[in-house]
Order: sequence, then structure tokens, then C-alpha cells
Amino acid sequence: MATIRLGDIAPDFTAESSLGKINLYNYLGDGWGILFSHPADFTPVCTTELGTASKFKEEFDKRNVKMLALSVDGIASHHEWIKDINETQHTTVNFPIIADEDKKVSSLYDMIHPNADNNLTVRSVYIIAPDKTVKLIITYPASTGRNFHELLRVIDSLQLTAYHKVATPANWNHGEDVVVSPSIPTDEARNIFTKGVEEIKPYLRMTPDPSTV
Ligand code: BEZ
Repeated sequence: MATIRLGDIAPDFTAESSLGKINLYNYLGDGWGILFSHPADFTPVCTTELGTASKFKEEFDKRNVKMLALSVDGIASHHEWIKDINETQHTTVNFPIIADEDKKVSSLYDMIHPNADNNLTVRSVYIIAPDKTVKLIITYPASTGRNFHELLRVIDSLQLTAYHKVATPANWNHGEDVVVSPSIPTDEARNIFTKGVEEIKPYLRMTPDPSTV
């Protein structure tokens, strides 16, 4: 198992899932992907996370991001658990959950941290770009459920900065002012960003979000 770092190519795999056999690259096609692991089926925090993720699917779809969950339990367990998620979270799980019983995918993606737990995955998040490079890695402990608003926020930043020479400041949300990339001189920035560039310091230049009209 090699460590995966930002900018690496996301390793491809084929695995069983709640929606049948799935190949990562075929599933993602030429879109974005989010791969996120859960410690185990029939656990309370994971149940709320998967319910929340299902309710957020429309937002991931709008951003052309395919969702793919994983836990190390088997298919039959996943199907039973999905019934509970649907019932208790008032939703319908609408994306595949990998059944990683042999821990092939969790090992490939370094989702088991033995000093945290030798058998269960931590809450890993990988965001994968259309060119299959890994753009974001976040790891949460089993005791902390993820914030799906934050995952959408960071996807907005990744997608914006993939296509515009900008970076997003602390607590940024879609539509708010962004930072001009440090590599662009201010004169050049004023030609590129026609909505205006405010130079607060030579290294700190702000411009309106170039993706909004
Ligand atoms: C949970 O999802 O609730 C959970 C899973 C493993 C350890 C602790 C909590």
C-alpha cells in the first residue's frame, strides 16, 4: 500500500457494491468523484452521514460529482442497513456503497489507520478530478460525522480554481470574492479579471468570483 497524496492518480479498482459490481474509472467517466469511507454498517454516526449524503445527491449532481461510499461490511449487510437508513433518515440511499469485505479498496486508499482501529476504516474523503488526479484528502475519526456543506464548499473551490487563476480565501463560499493567484502580476490580473481587482497588498489582490455573472 503506497500513500496517496494530492496530485497523484487515484488508483482504479473494481469492487462489489450495493448497486452491483463497480469499476471506479467507468463509474466516474469524465466527471468528478467523491469516495468516502465509513467505519461500519449499523453504526449511528454512519447512518446519519449516509442519510445526509443521499439528501445532498442533487447538489453533487449539479457539480457533476459522482458519489461512492465504502464500508468493510458485505453486500447483504449493506442492503439491510440501507433499509434502516431510508427509514430513520427519511430518504432513499441513491448511490453505491462498496462492500469492501476483503479490505482491498480500503488498503489501496489507506483508509485503515491501525492505531485508530485495526479493523474498521476511518472516515476518509477523496475528491477525484476528471483527469483522475486526487484533489482533496480529508480524514475524520470515527467519532466525528462529516459536514456535507463543507464538502460541497470545497468542491466549489476545487472546480473554480481548476478553471480560473484564483484561489479561495478562508471560509469562502461560492459567489464571494476570491484571491488572485500569486503568480499573476497585478497589471495582468486587471486584464484577466474584468470585474475589477483590488490590491490590498502587492501579494493580496481580491476579485469578484469570476464564475458568477
Ligand atoms: C458511528 O458511525 O457511529 C461509529 C462507528 C464506529 C465507531 C464509533 C462510531
